[in-house]
Amino acid sequence: MGKYIIQGGKTLSGVLPVSGAKNATLPILACTLIAEGTYFLNNVPALKDVEVMIKLLEHFGLKIEKIAQNSYKIINNGLQTLEAPYELVSIMRASFLVMGPLLAHRGEARVSMPGGCAIGNRPIDIHLKGFEQLGATIKTEHGFISAKAKNLIGKEIYLDFPTVTGTENLIMAAVLSKGITILNNAAREPEVEDLGNFLNKMGAKITGLGTDRIIIEGVEKLFPCEYNIIPDRIEAGTFLILSALTGGNIVIKGVNMEHLTSFKTKLEEIGINFKINGDEVQVQADLNNFKPTNIITLPYPGFPTDLQAQTIVLLAMIKGNSEMKETIFENRFRHVPELNRMGANIKIEGNVASINGPTNFQGAEVEATDLRAGACLVIAGLISSNTTILNNIEHIERGYENLVERLQAIGAEIKKSE
Ligand code: UD1
Repeated sequence: MGKYIIQGGKTLSGVLPVSGAKNATLPILACTLIAEGTYFLNNVPALKDVEVMIKLLEHFGLKIEKIAQNSYKIINNGLQTLEAPYELVSIMRASFLVMGPLLAHRGEARVSMPGGCAIGNRPIDIHLKGFEQLGATIKTEHGFISAKAKNLIGKEIYLDFPTVTGTENLIMAAVLSKGITILNNAAREPEVEDLGNFLNKMGAKITGLGTDRIIIEGVEKLFPCEYNIIPDRIEAGTFLILSALTGGNIVIKGVNMEHLTSFKTKLEEIGINFKINGDEVQVQADLNNFKPTNIITLPYPGFPTDLQAQTIVLLAMIKGNSEMKETIFENRFRHVPELNRMGANIKIEGNVASINGPTNFQGAEVEATDLRAGACLVIAGLISSNTTILNNIEHIERGYENLVERLQAIGAEIKKSE
């Protein structure tokens, strides 16, 4: 188990580049199962989760070659199996994204049931209900979910919740079906849109991307393509918070601020301004003038749950009382006790965290309980008065590429140790 040792309070300045979006990369990689041929993917982040998805694709028989730092050549010469094993699905829930493309391409799939995870129960009932509505028969046996469909037929579907990977799975299942599928109450996240744009480049006919009504007209055949993944809006948001708390001398590069509208508005409410120059963003922030605020996490375009933990560190630095209400996941405040150990005064009642600032963050030995909790503790460590030892950093490496090296390059004192 690795750890980060962070010496806080250093001046940070320089350019901090943003990687490709993890949550766009995973469905797009899974989608290369849908048609035979050679794909080229660029701006793929070097992450543990991406490695797991690549292993899964190799298990199905795909050949994957890294041709540059963030570019891959993926050759699909036909699938050797239609079963996703426990070892790979159990370590990454997003592995379930192979179900849609396998059903579309081969009319059959067997995927180990994803278990629970640190941030909640995370069911997949909406994915399965949607597959059934498209004509698949679903069976659960021996810890596997198997789906079969001779022909998938387009259908008008209502998603009980705009689930992100659920919408992606259903888009991928529907693209080769007969007729038209309409997904109502679909997820509007930019990553869903990116997957749709990738599929359209392959010859799919998908409209309404970025809205809650996605229309998929089934096509006979899809063709592989070359594609550039969008930048990671969650990573960009994480770095913007870090910059706001450390004087604003960091230039965050490779940002699409259009994907961060709610986040930007809430930070402006706090008193943080943004200087946007193409894909480069700098914040203008004076910690002494920040005002407390209340935030609710919601599906896109609402405030992202994946920035909740990092934003709590920001709110903890502001004089007065702020509130953060988490409505997407039921168990997503596990970073709060760790932040309190570092000096914060945060109380949790139900799904609301009540944050009393300002905080004089002090280094402590803490634990990353999940990916975004880990990112928030890195920020807290970097603004602390002394040394923080952050354990379980495997979670962080699932979602942030070469974080230590990139932070060191802007002056942070952070190192990895076994
Ligand atoms: C995706 C993101 C994750 C992000 C989350 C919410 C990927 C790989 N991961 O996860 O980083 O935090 O969106 O923005 O893209 N739900 C059901 N039934 C279902 C599916 C979901 O009840 O069949 C519930 C979940 O329990 C949760 C809520 O819907 O409470 C949102 O989950 P969902 O949007 O599916 O998240 P993921 O796609 O797993």
